[in-house]
Amino acid sequence: MTADDQKRAAGEAAAALAEAGMKVGLGTGSTAAWFVKALAARELDIRCTPTSRATADLGAGLGLRMFELDDLGELDLTVDGADEIGPGLSLIKGGGAALLREKLVWEASRRCVVIADAAKKVSTLGAFPLPIEVIPFGHRSTQARICDALVECDIGIAPRLRMKDGAPVLTDNGNYIYDAACGRIAEPALLAGVLKSVTGVVDHGLFLDLADIAMIGTASGVVTIEP
Ligand code: A5P
Repeated sequence: MTADDQKRAAGEAAAALAEAGMKVGLGTGSTAAWFVKALAARELDIRCTPTSRATADLGAGLGLRMFELDDLGELDLTVDGADEIGPGLSLIKGGGAALLREKLVWEASRRCVVIADAAKKVSTLGAFPLPIEVIPFGHRSTQARICDALVECDIGIAPRLRMKDGAPVLTDNGNYIYDAACGRIAEPALLAGVLKSVTGVVDHGLFLDLADIAMIGTASGVVTIEP
């Protein structure tokens, strides 16, 4: 079974959680795309809100009714992928640069389900570089302040500006992404707090105490994990 088979199985299992009348948040990335496709195939009477322009295009193309988050208010269910799933369903997200809209949609949702292939499950977060969304104005100064914040957490590395085709990657919000290759995040809550306190940092990819359940595709089927 390939990683993509596992992502697909997890996405299809999560789509079965949706019910008619629900307001549903749609995640971003290759795993969430399987969920969006499976959800659309069910042809339920639901209202959806996307976590990125890419997901908005995918969902609308498949016939899902798309709304702005503020038009829906509290959501019943959000399903999204992750880059790492650690202890207590602590997560690193943002590999696809959608972390800010993802976190806004997750926080508006009564139930959040993370879906992934088995390789995403880790015993300690941090091998996957932590994405940090930063406003472009003064971003090199912000990078220096992020370094100071990382040192407070005993992480002595400099985050790197995410580039593509010779230019900084722009998020859907017009911001930059810095990736912090922490290696090992011993205290995710401490790091989350100090990063949020840096002026110029809009948000980061640590999703703590947000996931209610994980559905992970494995060689022996979809395994459900609760915090
Ligand atoms: C998007 O910004 C991310 O948070 C994705 O949800 C995450 O990178 C997982 O992506 P895949 O499902 O493609 O691995």
